[in-house]
Order: sequence, then structure tokens, then C-alpha cells
Amino acid sequence: MRCTYCMPAEGLPAIPRERLLSADELVRLVGIAVHRLGVCEVRFTGGEPLMRRDLEDIIEGCTRVAPHVPLAITSNAVGLEHRAQGLARAGLTRINISLDTVDRAHFAALTRRDRLDSVLAGIRAAKRHIGRVKVNAVLMRENLDGAADLLRWCLDEGVELRFIEEMPPDADQAWTREQMVPAQELLDVLGTRFALTEAGREDPSAPAERWFVDGGPATVGIIASVTRSFCGDCDRTRLTAEGTVRSCLFSDDETDLREALRSGAGDDEIADLWRAAMWNKWAGHGVAAADFVPPQRSMGAIGG
Ligand code: GTP
Ligand code: 5AD
Repeated sequence: MRCTYCMPAEGLPAIPRERLLSADELVRLVGIAVHRLGVCEVRFTGGEPLMRRDLEDIIEGCTRVAPHVPLAITSNAVGLEHRAQGLARAGLTRINISLDTVDRAHFAALTRRDRLDSVLAGIRAAKRHIGRVKVNAVLMRENLDGAADLLRWCLDEGVELRFIEEMPPDADQAWTREQMVPAQELLDVLGTRFALTEAGREDPSAPAERWFVDGGPATVGIIASVTRSFCGDCDRTRLTAEGTVRSCLFSDDETDLREALRSGAGDDEIADLWRAAMWNKWAGHGVAAADFVPPQRSMGAIGG
């Protein structure tokens, strides 16, 4: 898919295979993160994690090195219908699926691909085989009118919907604070069709604020990364497909681990490099500041 906020129409340049972490390298790094750095949940994002034909092997390897850790993916769900069962068997426990609208024409325009049926089939397969499913919708002028219909669809399907404020590492570097839709505007729109009452966060470091819909128990969430940023509670470390640690979604500060990994460094040494990379993290990414400079690496190359 080529969602307009995430990828340019022509896609991203292919990365030569030798620059990507192999399944074994990924599994080893996950083991280090879990056993030496205290990481307690692992999520594979992308680009698109289903593009890795060996995703099942990676998940299975992670299940082996860290059997107690929840393993999740964030995916666009194209083709998931055929892989959900295998992924569940490999140990995948949670899945978040990107779906911005249930209107076919809008979907095709936003993603530049006419694959709505495949995504909906993927969501249903995920419910059947993987269990808890969340839907992520990026909030834009183009889908604001359809937001209530999307919520209705998710309520009927029994999946939890979260809207995400559009963030600046967009594909075309066209993001501006003036055109982005703030969380409050969405709440006003949903409020005309549903009664919303505050439900709080799932846990203190969870990105989504939640509201009960029509008295609950179903909820809708909003990830207000821009207008109500939650940097102070962030507890994430991001590893790119090429093996660099990114200390923050909004900062291009990256530390390479792949070189150390391939030149025979031990687990302790790699854990020290990773820890040092995270201590470089700034206190707040400044997305709300007037002089904020958007990062070079687009969302499609970070994975959210
Ligand atoms: P759950 O554990 O299932 O609730 O996962 P999640 O909400 O963390 O998952 P997901 O990866 O689907 O993230 C949803 C959106 O929230 C993505 O667009 C992320 O980039 C955004 N997000 C998550 N963590 C942060 C963060 O620390 N800072 C910012 N600005 N955005 C974040
Ligand atoms: N702003 C906000 N969210 C984005 N995502 C991708 N690009 C952006 C952006 N520019 C979302 C995807 C996916 C999640 C990981 O990040 O929809 O669900």
C-alpha cells in the first residue's frame, strides 16, 4: 500500500538484503533487549511486517528466546487472511491493524490501492486466530466525515478503534500544524453520534486516551501525539530493519548495532551500546514548538 501520509506513490528505495538484519540477528537482539535491558513487550512494525516472508520464523525465534513476552505486530493486513493462523501458531499474541476508512472510494484514494476487502478479511482472520485486535486510523481532513461510520463498523465487529493525530514524518514532508486534525475536533464530530465518557489510559505509558462509547464497555481511543504529546511517559526503544536504534520517533538520532553484531561483539557489549543510545534521548521531541524540524526518515521507514 502507499498510504499518502506514510509513503510516496513510488514507494521507498529497496534496501539491499545484506543491509537488513537477518531473522537470526533480529531474534538475538530481541533476546538482548528482553534479558539485559528490561524490555517487556515486542512489536514488529515496518514499513509492513508481512512483507518479510520469514516473519513467522522471526516470531517463532522470539517466542523461543522470550517465552513470557507478548509479541505484537502493527500491519496493514493485506494478505493477513492467509497468514494469521501461522503467525498465531508461531506465538504472535497481539495485532494492531491500520484502517483509516470503511468507504471503498476513500480507502482507494488514501492508500492508492483498492484492497479494502483484503484488509477487512485480514481483520476477521486476526480476530479468529490471534485474539485481541486493535484498529489504528490516522486522522485527516479526508476521513473526518467518515470517522463515525468507521467507529460504528469497529463496534459492530468488536474491535477497538484508535485514531492517531497525523504526525510530521509524513511521506511528502507536507505536514503542517494548521492542516492536521486535532483530537478535540474528532471528539466533537464523534460526539454528534455517540455519547463519550472518559475511560483513561490502558496503562500510564500507553499512547491512547480512551473514551467509553454509549456507556461502554466498548471504547474509542485517541493518540494525540501532537496536541497532547506524551513524551514524558514514553517507554519505547525503536530498532530499524537495518539494525540502528532510534531514540525517538521524531529525532533522526540513530545508533548502529549491526556493525557490532557482525563483528563478533558479545551480548553485554551490544546491550551497553543500546543503553547508551537511549541515554542520548532528548527530554521531549519539540513537535509542539514553532522551530520543530521534522525528521528525515518518513513513517514508512520507521513503522510508527
Ligand atoms: P498497544 O500496546 O497495542 O496499545 O500498542 P500501541 O498503541 O503502542 O501500538 P502502535 O504501534 O499501533 O502505535 C500506535 C501509534 O501510536 C503509532 O502511530 C505510534 O507511532 C504512536 N506512538 C506509539 N508510541 C509513541 C510515542 O512514544 N510517541 C509518539 N509520538 N507516538 C507514539
Ligand atoms: N502520522 C500518524 N500515524 C501514522 N502512521 C503512519 N504514518 C503516520 C503519520 N504520518 C500510523 C499507521 C500505523 C501506525 C504504526 O502508524 O497508520 O497504524
